[in-house]
Amino acid sequence: MKGAPAYLSQALAPLADTAAWKAFAEAALRADRGAGTLRVLEAAGLAVDLSTQAQSPELLEAGLALLAERDFGAWRERLLEGGIANCTENRAAWHTALRAEEPPGRVAGRVLAERDRVRAFVRHIDAQGRYDSVVHIGIGGSDWGPKLVVSALGYAGTRRQMRFVSNIDGHAIEAGLLGLDPRRTMVVVSSKSFNTTETLNNAQCALRWLREAGIADPWEHVVAVTANAEAAKRMGVAPERIFTFWDWAGGRYSVWSAIGLPIALALGAEALDGLLQGAAAMDAHFAQAPLERNAPVQLALTGLANRNVFGYASLNIAPYDARLVHLVPYLQQLEMESLGKSVDLHGQPVSVPTGPVVWGMPGTDGQHTFFQWLHQGPEGAPVDFIICREADHPYPEHHRLLVANCLAQREALLRGKPASTLETELAAKESDPERAAWLARHKAHPGGRPSTLIVLPRLTAHSLGALLALYEHKVFVQGVVWGINPFDQWGVEYGKVLATGIAEELAGKAPVGQRDPSTAHWVEAWRAAL
Ligand code: F6P
Repeated sequence: MKGAPAYLSQALAPLADTAAWKAFAEAALRADRGAGTLRVLEAAGLAVDLSTQAQSPELLEAGLALLAERDFGAWRERLLEGGIANCTENRAAWHTALRAEEPPGRVAGRVLAERDRVRAFVRHIDAQGRYDSVVHIGIGGSDWGPKLVVSALGYAGTRRQMRFVSNIDGHAIEAGLLGLDPRRTMVVVSSKSFNTTETLNNAQCALRWLREAGIADPWEHVVAVTANAEAAKRMGVAPERIFTFWDWAGGRYSVWSAIGLPIALALGAEALDGLLQGAAAMDAHFAQAPLERNAPVQLALTGLANRNVFGYASLNIAPYDARLVHLVPYLQQLEMESLGKSVDLHGQPVSVPTGPVVWGMPGTDGQHTFFQWLHQGPEGAPVDFIICREADHPYPEHHRLLVANCLAQREALLRGKPASTLETELAAKESDPERAAWLARHKAHPGGRPSTLIVLPRLTAHSLGALLALYEHKVFVQGVVWGINPFDQWGVEYGKVLATGIAEELAGKAPVGQRDPSTAHWVEAWRAAL
């Protein structure tokens, strides 16, 4: 299609029409789905068990042929070498450069300098001993990463009290500031664009709170992390307290940049280092491991078969680790903002469904919430089970039970339990055979439901970094096969524009616009009240 950048000139055939895709789909349908063979891939210290997913030598071959057809090798090189991987915004998606021990020459100076600044700042703050609380203000990619890591690794306590405020809902900032001593509180404002309504309004609210406490220079308490240093300066943040990253690091890929600052404030710079090292180890695996043993690649192909061949519209994430309570929303943003696209790189409709809905919560809570649907609902969903080999608490029996539950759920999803077996079992207890048959149908599990088991040695900064990078690369590979851009998010922008207009109308600064009857009704209703 005209208008696409020249480097995309090579025509991208509609995926569904390609022989490679048809062969992949046919091989998936013929593959073993009964976990006949153990299939565990090792990557950066993680074990990725794909045994209970569709597998066969034919499917493996077809997956490799599909990657070749979609020019995967060239795209991976483009990603890892900082080429234009984000074509609609005409820039690289170079988050791997942020976590490399030796960042690539083109950006090495900047990346290392900012890494050092963050660490020096944390050392200075520690030495100063002035702040015992941090209120972190940011949203989306400027919130989920630090919040996930701090809660996962700081479950047993952090070096200072950490509050994360993201939502524009005033209750969020109210709760975020509640009970803190403004004189001993640092406010970290994180926003790649420094243009996000929620973040800017919450930041102003925090500033008022500092001022109202009689702090002569509230800006002394404020730190900014942004790719738009000018906007942070205009707002009033002192240049020495502005930490930067660059437009080539996408918001949902930015935890590896100075956005990681609150992690170091909460857990020490070693946590940040470990996180980066774990992710870099996964990058090396992604770049070098043969494709048939490449965990992100195989996880991606598995997901493609589940989405497009077996028709699963969603992917459930079940971390069997209470510390990973924020992993699901983190991955929701990563997967759904990246893969929720309907148009390919050439601007043509994608010929097959793209990214699945991602949902879930930590096990075992999820078992008592929605696992019924996973086991016996008519559709079901593939599940990614994530668990640590070793726990960090002193209750071995709890870990044994946690592991048992995780393995049992997988087994139940896979094996199911046919009505005929249940009928025989029930017949022994029930005097009425008709009731036994009736009850057996209610208790039957279809089985044959796919899952992946990801085992971390322990939950450390390193293993968490590797886990997040595993998902990032999986998402990238799927984007390549679907032929979409996983690095933009135009869908989010439209709603922001509409919200700005409605906010003006609610404030009485603009007449109520041409709206549908319902929106107009509620704008009028609130206009009078707000
Ligand atoms: O949700 C849309 C989005 O643009 C995300 O991609 C981003 O992580 C978030 O808003 C926050 O943006 P910023 O970091 O620019 O405040």
